[in-house]
Amino acid sequence: MADNRKTIFVVDDDLTSLAVAKVALKERYNTLTVNSGAQLLKILEKSIPDLILLDIDMPDTDGYETIKALKSDFKTTDIPVIFLTAHSNSENELRGITLGAVDYIIKPFSTPLLLKRIEMHLTVESQKHQLESQNQELKAKHQELALQKLELVNFNTKLQEMVDAKVKTILELQSALLKSMAELVESRDDITGGHIERTQSYLRALLESMKTRDIYKNEVAEWDLSLVLMSAQLHDVGKIAVKDNILNKPGKLTPEEFEEIKKHTTFGGEVIDKIMESTSEHTFLIYAKIFAMTHHEKWDGSGYPKGLKGEDIPILGRLMAIADVYDALTSDRPYKAAFPHDEAVRIILDGKGTHFDPLLIDLFSGTSDEFGNIASALRPMKTGSA
Ligand SMILES: [Fe+2]
Repeated sequence: MADNRKTIFVVDDDLTSLAVAKVALKERYNTLTVNSGAQLLKILEKSIPDLILLDIDMPDTDGYETIKALKSDFKTTDIPVIFLTAHSNSENELRGITLGAVDYIIKPFSTPLLLKRIEMHLTVESQKHQLESQNQELKAKHQELALQKLELVNFNTKLQEMVDAKVKTILELQSALLKSMAELVESRDDITGGHIERTQSYLRALLESMKTRDIYKNEVAEWDLSLVLMSAQLHDVGKIAVKDNILNKPGKLTPEEFEEIKKHTTFGGEVIDKIMESTSEHTFLIYAKIFAMTHHEKWDGSGYPKGLKGEDIPILGRLMAIADVYDALTSDRPYKAAFPHDEAVRIILDGKGTHFDPLLIDLFSGTSDEFGNIASALRPMKTGSA
């Protein structure tokens, strides 16, 4: 049967004292008697006890020297040491405790008291070990959690990068498809080449100016500007449904033909509605429909297709009206030559409060140079005053 009793080393040069201690301890503990400090240090190289009872007065290495040696070695520093000595003065006791002893017991001792104090120190020691081991476990768990957290952060970062890359690809594809679709429509209307790209640039200039000048700032803050600009390409998508002979008529349109042309706004809305039915991503399509349906409305209600008035016209439609008209004025048509930039600007400023939103015309007035620069960059045009 395994002996689970704790082991105590008793160190004393006096053989009688060793025998007395052994008798006192033998019922409860494995006891090893050692007759000098030097011998104790040698034995400790091979075996570590649960507690040491140490005499002070010994030849060669006394109790104080012995405890110093024990406390300076990491292998023995944690062994609880109780001084068991005939020295009863408090100075010696203080010295012993200061050197690291857990207790100081005077010989001759009472056996029950000695056993009680040993038991008390062993219990404290055992609790200390338990706490240390719990502490170690907690530390290990903490490290494990920190590692898992790091792995989670790395995983999330990688996941986010993958999602970002996918979103970027989808947006690029979406943009390319929209551009192709818009160019396809534009290619049917051979008198307005480059119109989509230029109106998009004029719109960008107006939007950037709105941000810096705090015009309609609450509305601008709600828009996703890159989607607004992407969807602006579709403002004339309804022209796909206008007959070639009307769309490309070299002369001025009859009133009936003009009525047909006007339908490109509602056709555009219907085309976009169709696309909406087959996708859950609606934001840019909502913008696109606003552009298609309202870019020919006028502030005073004389526009088409619905004759909307003032603030009933969505701001995006009011903005596109300025970009669209500027481009039409500065473009050659079979029935008119392109107006120079300054003349086009003057005509648009004259439309303040009738054709256009007065606030946005104030904005345009401060942005018109930018319009001229865009026009010059995107196509050769006439400059100077009319
Ligand atoms: Fe249009």
